[in-house]
Amino acid sequence: MKYRLLQIAIVFTLIIMVATGIALIQTQPTPPASQPAGVAVAGAPIGGDFTLTNHLGERVSEADFSGQFRLVYFGFTHCPDVCPIDVAKIAQALKLLDDRALARTTGLFITIDPSRDTPETMRNYVELFHPRIVGLTGSHAEISQVMDQYKVYAAKVEDPAYVDYIINHSSYIYLIGPDGEFIDIFGSDDGPEALADRITSMI
Ligand code: NI
Repeated sequence: MKYRLLQIAIVFTLIIMVATGIALIQTQPTPPASQPAGVAVAGAPIGGDFTLTNHLGERVSEADFSGQFRLVYFGFTHCPDVCPIDVAKIAQALKLLDDRALARTTGLFITIDPSRDTPETMRNYVELFHPRIVGLTGSHAEISQVMDQYKVYAAKVEDPAYVDYIINHSSYIYLIGPDGEFIDIFGSDDGPEALADRITSMI
């Protein structure tokens, strides 16, 4: 019964989202001819300054990654399925880069679950994937701010099938450039080659 209600709620939410999406599409002005419609455009207002705590317990800010291409992903270490796949994708992309490109690229795994994802938890997690992936956590306010900056969607869900709770969340990989500028966004259809090729093309 609980699941039935959940299903109805999900379907209803999806209908609202689709309806809202259609309304938005209809009311949005036509993009300038130089920008392909429906494609995330470089220079969009995504990203920005932050101060967080890395997986070694050090306070770091956006400026600490200056000069680096960054593959940014938001998730949480208790995520049962999507996050491990996406962080593994970032690790695979890093492995595809040559030494020169790798030296200029950092993966950033930013938690959306700061209550459970302590620096130590983040460290144990990112170390499973690649030495050039940095885990970032922080206070609820700090995480909330950076999630807003990247337009990340997240909703906590109590699920008896899992211990405690899970968080449904958007799962895009953002490519941020050396000056902190937004370059591109990748979804589940984009493989590690797409990420690596995009970086290599700019180096
Ligand atoms: Ni996840």
